Parts: sequence; structure tokens; C-alpha cells
Amino acid sequence: MAVLNSPVLNKGTAFSAEERTALSLTGLLPPDIGTLKTQVKSAYSQYVKLPDSLSKNIFLTALHDRNEVLFFKLFSEHLPEMIPIVNDLTVGKAMQQYQHESRRPRGVYLSIDHPNSIEDAFANFGACAEDIDLILATDAERILGLGDWGIGGIEVSIGKLAIYTAAGGIDPTRVIPVMLDVGTNRESLYENPMYIGNRHARVRGTPYDAFIDAYVTAVTKLFPHALLQWEDFAPTNGRHILEKYRGRVCTFSDDMQGTGAITLAAAISAVRCSGTPLRNQRVVIFGAGAAGISIAAQLCDAMMRNGLTRDVAVSRIWCVDRQGLLSADRADEMLDFQKTYARPVSERKDWKQGKENSIGLAEVVRRVRPTMLIGTSTVAGGFTEEIVRQMAGDTERPIIFALSKPAEEIEAHPANLIAWTNGRALVATGSPFAPVTFKGVTYSIAHVNNAMLYPGLVLGAIVARASRISDSMFAAAANAVSSLVTVRQPGSSLLPHIDDLRAVSMTVAGAVAEAADSEGLARVRLSNIGQQIQDAMWQPEYRHITAA
Ligand code: NAI
Repeated sequence: MAVLNSPVLNKGTAFSAEERTALSLTGLLPPDIGTLKTQVKSAYSQYVKLPDSLSKNIFLTALHDRNEVLFFKLFSEHLPEMIPIVNDLTVGKAMQQYQHESRRPRGVYLSIDHPNSIEDAFANFGACAEDIDLILATDAERILGLGDWGIGGIEVSIGKLAIYTAAGGIDPTRVIPVMLDVGTNRESLYENPMYIGNRHARVRGTPYDAFIDAYVTAVTKLFPHALLQWEDFAPTNGRHILEKYRGRVCTFSDDMQGTGAITLAAAISAVRCSGTPLRNQRVVIFGAGAAGISIAAQLCDAMMRNGLTRDVAVSRIWCVDRQGLLSADRADEMLDFQKTYARPVSERKDWKQGKENSIGLAEVVRRVRPTMLIGTSTVAGGFTEEIVRQMAGDTERPIIFALSKPAEEIEAHPANLIAWTNGRALVATGSPFAPVTFKGVTYSIAHVNNAMLYPGLVLGAIVARASRISDSMFAAAANAVSSLVTVRQPGSSLLPHIDDLRAVSMTVAGAVAEAADSEGLARVRLSNIGQQIQDAMWQPEYRHITAA
């Protein structure tokens, strides 16, 4: 019975006759003996009949809790269809509507009110030093555009870890999701008697920093080889944490680095297509929030690899936010992480100003004549026909990435971008879009999806036992993703298709492990990287189970 109740060991009807006898399962299962293949078929036929994405999320969660191999086999065979169900706005909906208590607890819950219990909590989890490869921690302050969801936010981390396994072959028994419960500022949660997290406002400042520090100290001591990922932190805390620890331990933030790196991959493909090297691009970023600034940072880093100094690389980027062009004389209106990209006042002396002396996107595009325009603003229709035509008048192959999502919030529909530029635009989007046919050419629209990058990045880091995640490892990952597309054919996508995700992850992992090795960050000998990566990938298949 214990075997049936363990999601890691349970095979349901696929236990063989011999196993049923040896494990005392006789009479506990229907007599017919199934296979993983037939179970996947049957589970999928139940899944497709479900009426909406929320019911599908609940079905997959229940399967995950019942039979992990079956869940991961089903998920890995239907990645494009199921990623949005497992880890996107759907999980957000599930979190809002169902509250956390309706789900089986997974992972480790740490409370800022009991900072001395951190080691005990991990001890209760029962893993040894060598058992854990990846720990994904969240304080859930800023979830997927939904904001602060308190303790229920761990569901997003659980979903993300499932993608790591399905897309990157990360062993699901070697990961831990961690909820860092520092309170919530959402009144509807802490005033709800059913809420099961800490019922107080978010703790800030020194006690918060000390709690994070206690967490990092504990996990690096207990699991010295584990990679620490940060998920869904508010930008200021997230940046502070990353800067503090990235030079000391193996750590990264997908929100802060992954988004930039996958966008860089699309930019590298676009640059190959346009023929103008990255260091000569003029980039305008519309919406200088977490994603926009993460992209600016990776583009700068790549330009510096192309030979520019940091100052010159930064000078190739213009950011436009709510208050217009980020400009040095308005530093008091900027968040700390935006200030690097503030333009000198002298540059815009005679530029046309709008309300409250702001300089809007149209004027910036007219003056800067960008070759690359990136939207992370959540402003639907922000890339107007006039702006796009202006850009297309100044550059032969305008590179335009409209990354705001969901699709209703996109800055411009890809069909319009292609039409307004007479088919010359090199387009990528944050949501998936169907191909666009224009004047006889069919354009595949690159979907900028972080899942193309982080499973392979982590797999490579794990295989190399990397001591740090360096900028070069991100650059290697971005180049590896871009290397998988051929851009010579008119209308080719700038990124691989999500159907090829497992193969993409393997390529990314190889490049990342190699980069770690060449920087002296690998802690194992990498004699045959391809083989080592393949061997490290966990496969969703049933193992023979014997009674102890
Ligand atoms: P955020 O809230 O940190 O950033 C949005 C920024 O846009 C803010 O700085 C805001 O002030 C600015 N903004 C709002 N209205 C504006 C206006 N009228 N004009 C100029 N700027 C304006 O959010 P985050 O996380 O940066 O995400 C932004 C968008 O990018 C979202 O739609 C998100 O879904 C998408 N995104 C796409 C990714 C991808 O394609 N891989 C990854 C991460 C985010």
C-alpha cells in the first residue's frame, strides 16, 4: 500500500504480475496489467475532454501527486500544449480560486517568524548532501503579472520545476521547491481566516535580508552542490539578492537573467539575418521594468563581448517607460535598476516634449532611428503603425520584438508588423502566434519563451557541477539556442519551435557545461560532454521495484 501511495514509486495498473506478488499488491489493483504507453493514452484522452484550462491544471496536479512517471511522460509528450497549463496564468488562476490548502504540500515551507527552524525544516525533508541538484525558492511577491499571492505562490515554483523535468530531464527527486514566507501585502489573503500563510504584512529591510541570508547559509551547508534559483521576487529584492550571492554561490534568477538571455538568442538570430552586427545596433526598449531591463543588461553584455566598452554598449540603448525616455535629469522618478540607462540631458535638448516634459516613444524612434525595438510595456498597441513605418523608413531590416503578454496586451500584432514593413521586419513575440502569410511568403513568428533556455542552462550547470552561473554561461546558452535556427530562408523563425524543446535543452546544456569548463567553473571532469548530458537526463519510465 505504501508503494501505491508514493507518487515516486506508484505505477498504477502497470505493476507487473511479479511485482504485484512481491509488493503485496494483489487485490489492490484492477486485474488488467497496463503499460506506460496505454496509461499515457488514456490520461491524455481524459485531459482533452476537460472543459477549461483550470480543470486541466487540477487534473495534471492530481496526476503529479499520484504517479510522477506517468505525469512526466504525459507532460513531456505534450509540452507546447501543457506548459501554459502547468506554469502560466492558469496556475495563477488555480492559486487564486482554490487556495493552497486544497493541494498536497510539496517542498519546504520556511517562515520569517521562525528563522531558527530553517535547518530543521530541511532535515525533515530527509535529503542528504549529495541528493539535491536544484532548489527553487520564491517569496511570491510578484507572480506572473498577478502580483503578491503569499504562500500559494509555491504552486508556481512547483510548476516550473515540472518544466525542468519534462523539458530538461532534471531528476524530479533531486529538486526542492521552497516557500520563503515573509508575509503578504494582499489584504484579501491575510484577512481571510482560511489563509494558511503568515498573516501579516511583508517583512522588509534588515530582518528580510537576514532571513534570506540564513536560508542561503543553511542550503549551501546542507546541499553544497545544489544550484539556487530565485523565482517571482519583486525587482528590487530580486536584484539585491542576485547581486549579493551570484559571486559566492551557484545561483541565478530566471526573471532577471533568463528573459534577457532568451531575448538575446532571438536578437542574435535577427542580427545574423540583418547583417548588421549587434555592436552596431541601436536599441529602443519600450517598458523599462523587470523584463525590459533584464533584456537591456544581456544585450549590453553581448555588445561588450563584441568589443564595445561598457559605456559605449549602454549608450546604444534607449529606454522609454511610463514617464517617457529615461533621462538623467529625472532620476528621482526612476527605480534603482533603471538608472544605468538614463540618457544624458544634452542629447535630448531639442527633442519634442509631451505632457510633463516627457519624451514619448514616437519621438524617440524618430530621433534615435533604432534598428531594434523591444516592447515589454504591457501597452496593447503601443507600437503604432506610424512608429513602425517610421522605423522601417530608416532601417532595412527592422528588428521588432513585441514581448508583452498575454496576446491581448501585445504592442503590435505580428501580422501588422509584417504588413507595415512590407515583410522586412524580423519579428518575435512573447505569446505564441500562428504563422503569417504576406505577399506569398509565410513568416513563422518566434515565440520568446524562457522555457527554451532555463532547463538546458540548469542541466548544463548540474552536469558541470558549476560553482557559479556566469554571464558567459548565459551568452553560451543564448548562442546555442540561436544556432539551432537557419535564418537564410525568407520567413524563418528566429527561435526554434517549442516542439523541439527537449533537443534544444540538450544543446543549451552542452554549451553551458562547456562555458563553465572553459571558465574554470566546472567541478567535475568533462571528458565527453554530450554523453554526460544524455546520461544525466532523467527519463520518465518505470523502474523495476523490489520489496526491501
Ligand atoms: P513590469 O511591470 O516590471 O514592467 C512593465 C514596465 O512597463 C514598467 O516599468 C511600467 O512602468 C512600463 N509601462 C507601463 N505603461 C507604460 C507606458 N504607457 N509607456 C511606457 N512604459 C510603460 O513587468 P515585466 O515583468 O517587465 O513584464 C512586462 C511585460 O513583458 C509583461 O507583459 C510580461 O508578460 C512580458 N514578459 C515577457 C517575457 C517573454 O517574452 N519571455 C518574459 C517576461 C515578461
